[in-house]
Amino acid sequence: MIIAANWKMNLSRQNAGDLLKSYRDISADASASLITFVPACYLALAEDVLSKTSVQFGAQDCHAAEKGAFTGDISASMIADFGAGWVLCGHSERRQYHAETDNLIAEKMTQAAQSGLNAIFCVGESHEDRLSGASVDVVTRQLTTTLQHWQAARGGRSTQSLVIAYEPIWAIGTGLVASLEQISEMHAGVKACIAGLGITAPVLYGGSVKPDNAADIFALADVDGALVGGASLDAEGFSQIVAAAR
Ligand code: 13P
Repeated sequence: MIIAANWKMNLSRQNAGDLLKSYRDISADASASLITFVPACYLALAEDVLSKTSVQFGAQDCHAAEKGAFTGDISASMIADFGAGWVLCGHSERRQYHAETDNLIAEKMTQAAQSGLNAIFCVGESHEDRLSGASVDVVTRQLTTTLQHWQAARGGRSTQSLVIAYEPIWAIGTGLVASLEQISEMHAGVKACIAGLGITAPVLYGGSVKPDNAADIFALADVDGALVGGASLDAEGFSQIVAAAR
């Protein structure tokens, strides 16, 4: 199991340092692998606190280009320079607020691979898609467009680890968790879709994962862990989620 924490744009420097220290303690008894996605300005802090621990860390986004005149952006190689091993690609908040397309996400994943970063690639449908019965089609399109583009660009040479996160947009930060049936159906669909592309990857669920629903979600056959937003900001709650991943 993989339990990943996405802090989004939260926490002061002091609170970030304290939470990273808690993660270090949580990892001591964890059977799951832990990865934390910190705001880019805390990469140095994460490197300080987490080096020599089993907690891996990464950034929440990178630019698709190697370097250049992109004010405010950060490159995959800058992230790797801080000892980070991972980057999140295609989170729905990036798709929504930064107009990221399936092809751009593939370019970011390719750039990440060239800098030695592993990627968690996020997919998920909107509430409208869910209501109209288009969920599986939407997620299948996101997976195939991005992964075919990524496969063509990397030319089979990369050793990049790929993890998929299924995050229904309507369940993110809303307290609405997808039902166990909905999660099972989509995770099986994601695994079948990527198998069709010759890819095997762990598939995480994300969307209002909390201490009280984590164990049921982790018991599902095709769930390989979680990508946790809000509940990852609280050390006690996060440690309960990690403990549920046995
Ligand atoms: P919440 O756990 O706050 O719903 O966020 C999920 C998410 O977007 C993780 O990437």
